[in-house]
Amino acid sequence: MRYGTGMAASPRFNPLLRAGKPQGMASSAVGTAAPVFRPGLEGVPATQSAICDIDGLQGKLTYRGYEVGSLATNSSFLETAYLLIWGELPTAAELQAFESEVQMHRRVSFRIRDMMKSFPSGGHPMDALQASAASLGLFYSRRALDSPDYIAAAVVRLIAKIPTMVAAFQLIRKGQDPIQPRDDLAYAANFLYMLTEREPDPLAARIFDACLILHAEHSLNASTFSARVTASTLTDPYAVVASAVGTLAGPLHGGANEDVLEMLEQIGTEDQVEPWLDRAIAQKQKIMGFGHREYKVKDPRAVILQKLAEELFDQFGHDPLYDLARKLESVAAERLGPKGIYPNVDFYSGLVYRKLGIPEDLFTPLFAIARTAGWLAHWKEQLGANRIYRPTQIYTGHAERQWVPQGAR
Ligand code: CMC
Repeated sequence: MRYGTGMAASPRFNPLLRAGKPQGMASSAVGTAAPVFRPGLEGVPATQSAICDIDGLQGKLTYRGYEVGSLATNSSFLETAYLLIWGELPTAAELQAFESEVQMHRRVSFRIRDMMKSFPSGGHPMDALQASAASLGLFYSRRALDSPDYIAAAVVRLIAKIPTMVAAFQLIRKGQDPIQPRDDLAYAANFLYMLTEREPDPLAARIFDACLILHAEHSLNASTFSARVTASTLTDPYAVVASAVGTLAGPLHGGANEDVLEMLEQIGTEDQVEPWLDRAIAQKQKIMGFGHREYKVKDPRAVILQKLAEELFDQFGHDPLYDLARKLESVAAERLGPKGIYPNVDFYSGLVYRKLGIPEDLFTPLFAIARTAGWLAHWKEQLGANRIYRPTQIYTGHAERQWVPQGAR
């Protein structure tokens, strides 16, 4: 396996940038220009990265140079994770070694399962996942960020255990004991098995694996930025992933996939789509599953997820919510298209997961299982050329004031 960090030898590695200053800028010049505030850091490069590229006008997404649709068709999630984290597609031997290491580390300590049993069963699975991901730091407390072996072990452990923890909480909150992973099942099939206690249909497992590939990485989105900020403090990788899970949970980010189905159910029937959308736009409501900071066309992942949904419907029966979703997409194209607002990755993913029989509040944890690969790729890249994130601010508060005694306020 290519377990070295590799960054020092890379032509992209720039020692001056490592020192944190733009090339050619003297120390005394840093901080003298009037700062410009960009809300949401829109358009502000906050890192250099060789992991993923987005062309938001053409609707193209590549991981390490490979187009995501081609990976979803030809690769597996673990192979794609390897590509993202180690930079190259693995050879057959490298992939086999990676797969068997992940398989060996799927189990979680009974102490983590017991801890999860004390979580409220009505709590959100993303909160359960954030807490259990963070708890891994208690069990694997040694930190050796300059050791390639440590990095490799943490990667394997997190990719292997996150799905087990998601499935465990699902069974625990239903009052059941979690079931052990099955060594004869591949990554995606094993997760569906741990969740449902039934061996999944091969088509369902293949489509779920493709969904994981599509969600594995997406440059400097909010959760990945959060992961990189946390990583830049040189904390442990479990804290990095836990902070990213917490960030992904919000409805403007990964949490939108849950809200899409709720929105479609609320619309109810196809004849209600136009009046509902007009009302929502008039009330300046955000349409869930639409819009993206990077894409001004339909998200390429939404295009692929739509095809995967259709494949599932052909095999396992139609879902009338899909007709509603298509109608909403076409009406929204007239109303919101001119502003560059089109379906994003979350618009069709919920329909796929629903057909796979997955409960709605597990949609975002599934996103987290996949995105762990991207977070870890960014963790490793950040360590290769680290400087702590510490942006500045534009102060808008009072000028200095004199203390006022309580009686005089
Ligand atoms: N529905 C209606 N109008 C929208 C939407 C939407 N979904 N998204 C953006 N707009 C409008 C917005 O009202 C604003 O209009 P105006 O300029 O007239 O005030 C303009 O487009 C720019 O919006 P913004 O909120 O400044 O854009 P942003 O780049 O800050 O936000 C976004 C991007 C994804 C948070 C936003 O599009 C959104 O809230 N979408 C709905 C939630 C969603 O689907 N999130 C999943 C994102 S993709 C997966 C992921 O990241 O996890």
